[in-house]
Amino acid sequence: MGINILATGAYVPQQTLTNDDFKRFVDTNDEWIRTRTGISERRMAGWEPNWYMGAQAAKQAIERAGISPEEIGFIITATATSDFHTPSMASVIQRETGALNAAAFDMNAACSGFVYALDNARRYLQTEPGVKYVLVVATEALSRFVDFEDRGSCILFGDGAAAVIVENSDKLYSAALGSDGTGAPFLCARSMQIAPEIRIESDFEDGFTDKPLHKLYQDGKAVYKFAVKALPTAFEKAAAKIGISAEEIDWFIPHQANVRIIETAAKHLGVPMEKFIITLDHYGNTSSASIPLALNEAVEKGIVKRGQKIAMIGFGAGLTYGGAIIEF
Ligand code: UT7
Repeated sequence: MGINILATGAYVPQQTLTNDDFKRFVDTNDEWIRTRTGISERRMAGWEPNWYMGAQAAKQAIERAGISPEEIGFIITATATSDFHTPSMASVIQRETGALNAAAFDMNAACSGFVYALDNARRYLQTEPGVKYVLVVATEALSRFVDFEDRGSCILFGDGAAAVIVENSDKLYSAALGSDGTGAPFLCARSMQIAPEIRIESDFEDGFTDKPLHKLYQDGKAVYKFAVKALPTAFEKAAAKIGISAEEIDWFIPHQANVRIIETAAKHLGVPMEKFIITLDHYGNTSSASIPLALNEAVEKGIVKRGQKIAMIGFGAGLTYGGAIIEF
């Protein structure tokens, strides 16, 4: 049993930062950013809350699905950049959309979050009688955590949200999720600091103690090394479960981190780049939102069509990875 993506929706903030705009913060240039990452510009949320972006994307998906919000039985929000430690973004999005008969919670698998959430949506749909629709939202405001003094990371990220409405179906489906926690300190952003009043001297070392407070830290090379293996692995593990080959896939929708990572993965899989949907040039890396944003754009442009086979493959902090093969 698989799922049917009934509809997609998306929202990106108005404000755009071009590569040249980063010259205001760091020693960089458009040429370096474009050739090393493929990114030209990205959106910035400014004062727009993360939940607002998620709710806008969700409302569009609900409207396009032609369902009543009250028919939604479950809301899963993938986010690594929640506005609050509590309540969840999913609960706030529930309030905004009026999907008041749903259970709601957030999940954080960083940039792999959408694939994780989609697979959990499917499992919930198939085991919870009476649940007809699940709303999956991926919403991210990376700009809140990015260190605008670190030229190696600040130029990569952007903000945005996307959502899908899913229901049970007998369409083709396979997914594989994975994680390597030994790489956790390679990409991290601390959410709370220890109260100085109760801090005692200690030699406690967990791999994070030297990382900045409240700013995103990444070891770009270590993440790159993981990513070029993780993307093909995500596909291969999901594909092996249903005996499908890369040639049978119509479209690959990868996590949009760096076009060089995607090119290396494409080469490994023996798939031409023309089969990869790329949006990082105009949105940068929007973490968990990047795969559904690309899906939504490809659907809107008529590139991805009903009946086609899609492989969504992601990797991210954790270090996590995940692949989902679906029939659209
Ligand atoms: O969702 C997951 C998120 N993270 C990732 O996917 C990150 C994966 N890693 C990457 O994409 C790449 O490693 C980066 C884009 C972060 C960096 O690219 P790179 O080709 O690995 O560059 P590098 O770190 O080896 O740096 C090469 C040079 C250095 O200068 P020196 O030491 O050779 O003089 C850097 O200081 O480029 C310099 N550099 C820059 N120069 C201009 C680093 N960032 C910039 C910049 N503008 N923004």
